[in-house]
Formats: sequence, C-alpha cells, structure tokens
Amino acid sequence: TEQKQALFTIFGATGDLAKRKLYPSLFRLFKKGELADNFAVIGTARRQWTDSFYHEVVLDSIKDLMHSKTEAENFASHFYYQSHDVNDAEHYVNLKNLGERLKAQYKTAGNQVFFLAMAPQFFGVIAEHLKSENILTGEGFERIVIEKPFGNSYATAKTLNDSLSKVFTEEQIFRIDHYLGKEMIQSVSAVRFANPIFESLWNNRHIDNVQITFAEFIGVEERGGYYETSGALKDMIQNHVLQVLSLIAMEKPEKFDEAHIVKEKVKALKAMRQYSSQEALENFIRGQYIAGKFDGENYLGYREEDSVAPDSRTETFAAGKFLIDNERWAGVPFYVRSGKRMTEKGTRINIVFKKEAENLFADNCDDQPVQNVLTIYIQPTEGFSLSVNGKAAGQGFHLEPLRLSFRHDSEFLGNSPEAYEKLFLDVLNGDGTNFSHWEEAARAWELIDVIREAWDGDTSDMPTYTARSMGPQAAFDLLKKDGNEWAWQP
Ligand code: BG6
Repeated sequence: TEQKQALFTIFGATGDLAKRKLYPSLFRLFKKGELADNFAVIGTARRQWTDSFYHEVVLDSIKDLMHSKTEAENFASHFYYQSHDVNDAEHYVNLKNLGERLKAQYKTAGNQVFFLAMAPQFFGVIAEHLKSENILTGEGFERIVIEKPFGNSYATAKTLNDSLSKVFTEEQIFRIDHYLGKEMIQSVSAVRFANPIFESLWNNRHIDNVQITFAEFIGVEERGGYYETSGALKDMIQNHVLQVLSLIAMEKPEKFDEAHIVKEKVKALKAMRQYSSQEALENFIRGQYIAGKFDGENYLGYREEDSVAPDSRTETFAAGKFLIDNERWAGVPFYVRSGKRMTEKGTRINIVFKKEAENLFADNCDDQPVQNVLTIYIQPTEGFSLSVNGKAAGQGFHLEPLRLSFRHDSEFLGNSPEAYEKLFLDVLNGDGTNFSHWEEAARAWELIDVIREAWDGDTSDMPTYTARSMGPQAAFDLLKKDGNEWAWQP
C-alpha cells in the first residue's frame, strides 16, 4: 500500500461517534499502512481539552486494537485538539493556522477531509465558514464526510443539501450510510451479477416476493432523546433499508462503478410507487414495544425507557410493502421490516421464488415442495443460503426440504475491515460508490414522508408488541393479506 496523505478535521471530536467509530477506524488504516507519516488529525469541539488529554481519549478508544504501546502512541501523536465554536468566525482562524502548520509538518499534499460528527443543524454553518475563512484552498482534494440523519424530511434534507452545495460539489460530499460499508451488502451485487443462474431469474416471472428484515434485539438504550424525534421509519427504513432495496432492485449497471451504480439505484427508487396517504396506511404498519420477559429476563417497555415520553407515539417497529412499477418488478411486493427489541439481531434478505404451478409428485406423496428461497445474511454472520427440494433417502417417494448454505467463518470476519474503515478508505480514494447520494436521499424522503404524515394524522391507539418478539400482529397480517408469510420467523 502506498500511504495516503491528508489532514483530517473532526467536528465533534469529543463525541461518542468519534470515539466508537472514527478513531478505531483510522487506527485500523494506520496499522495497515494506509496512513503512516503523512497524516494529521485536528479534533474540535466546544470543550477545552489539551492535546495530551486528547491523546488519552484516542488511546482509550483503540485499546482493544493495539498490538504495542509504541505503535498506538505513534498513532496518537498525529492528533491535535482545538477548542472550537462552530458559530464563531474567529475560531476558524485558529483552525486555519493550526491546519497550515500541520499540512507543512506532515506533508499532507494539501488534501483535506472534514468529518462532521455533530448534529445536522450545524452542517451548513460549518461548511460556510470553511469557505469564507479560506480553510478550503483548492490545493489538494477537499472532501466532507457527514453522518446521518441527513435531514428529517424531504424539505429539511433539501435545505441542508442546498447549504452544503454552496460550498461543496456532490463529488466532494460523502454521506455515510454505514450499512453500505458492510461486507455482505456489497456482495449482494456479486451474488446477483456474477451468477447467471440468479441473474436470469431476477424478475417478476420467477420471483414471488422480496423480504428485507433489519431486526435488532437491543432497545433504545441511552438514545431516547434522538430516537423520540426519529422512530424506526426514519432511523432505519429511510436510509439503510431503502439502500439495500435499491441494490436488489436496480437494473444491471453498464459498469460496476460509482456513476453507473448510482444511476441505476436512483432509477429503481424513482420507479417505486408513490403512495397516497390512504395507500400508505394500507401498506405500512408500526408498533411500539411493551414490557416483556424473554429467557428469564425482564425487558422494559419503550415508554418506560430513559428520555422517552410516558405517552410517546414513536414507533420502534415499522413494516410495510413497497411496489416498483417497472417491467422487471411489476406485481412483486417488496416487504420490509425493522425494529428494536425484536427476538434477535438479524439483518437478512429473503428472495422468495415462485412455486411451480403444477406439482408433478402430487400422486406420489402428500409432501408439498417448499418455495425456493435465496437468503442473503448480512448480520450477525454473513453468507447466503438457498432452500431447495430433494428426495428423502430411503424407500418410497418423499420430498425433503434442504438448505444449501455458505457462511463466512468468524476468523475471516474478525480480519475483514470494519464498515467505517472501509468507508474511510473509500473517502481517501475518492470513491463514493458506497455512500448515499443526494438523489437517493431525496427520493427516499419522498417515499417516507407520506407514510410519516399519514401516521401522524392517525390518532388511534399505538399498536404494540412484546419486547423480544418479531413485531405486532399487523406485521404478519400484512403478508397474509397477499397470501404470503415472512420466510424468517425465529
Ligand atoms: C443506526 C441506527 O443507523 O443503525 C441505530 O441509528 C441502529 O438505531 C443501528 O441501532 C444499527 O446498526 P448495526 O450496524 O448495529 O446493525
């Protein structure tokens, strides 16, 4: 590897995200030699920290990854702390001066990466000042990385995007969707396009329905404050789930590169049916977890959690049916569901193939052939499986459902790069394939806003589900209406 040259500036350097994701990911790149001598990091936040205190924080965040103290300390020595008020123009002068010094000292070739690990209401003001205070010089590459949530509706996302676009071009903006950094998400495309047996069946003649499940067993934990303003629909469906859906649904890109993939994903999102408010209520359901007992453990209900209103109407579970009105997918429901405090953690895609119209074996035995299902496992283990029918060994004729499956072993996974690490390397390489683009985010909000508004206007009792279950009854009824069922029912 050739080492990368860059000055990183982190807004929100004292926060949880920086400690949990940014520092460890940068350290992983350091250990692999992607970052070596020619990088420096400026951490900023309101608090007054010294460099040496900052080093302690950075060291603590990487303690599980370090081999040797010298290596870790060498890494931490590239970090500088600058107390900063994002609204105060004068503070950017300090930032610029420090940046100039570090650029020269570490020979970063003028390349700059800005991480905005702060609340989105500050994104605009930061971007503006980077420009007005001449921190952006055009010397090397200049890229900005932003965390979700990208807006809270189409309108707020648009305002946010407009303010960023005054300073950065779309190619310079990297909107993180950390699911796009996960191994198996990327290999959805490999499974599909490298295997003619799947690619030739990837349409409404052969696929009956598609199911995407993002189940979490954790509850809201200490994030009640944020989650109360979000809910499952905005927290998971608008971004992660729709990203995965568009990768499954897109047409084959002319080339497997950013421009072509994004073009196809956007086309797929635009072909998705825009529901009316009535249709949104018919096709989407929500739920909130209530106290429950599982494996001898007691779980609180959502309304009893910290920082959650006792009469909260925030959904902790959302499920629904999307339709795509194009030639490939007409008539194929895309069922999605995501929630907290579900039975177990599991992110998976089930592609349910059509049944054979006639059963050749009807006179030979009573066994009904199972539907072929291709399952793509994303978490916690990665891999895929295919359910098929075979003949049960022995006398007579009986069908036996079998599962061909492949799972990566944990040793492989332990060594494979973490999502954020992969994404940061992409940023340094200027590859935006695995990031969310404005047109994708915009379309996703259009699809979600109508559901959100329909729910907000519905004052009937909040549907509930018991903690550690697979969601409210309505989530099962949703598929039953169509004569289908969830392929995954742990
Ligand atoms: C985040 C959501 O985007 O994704 C969280 O805000 C959720 O609510 C998390 O827990 C799930 O990510 P992962 O990688 O743990 O599956």
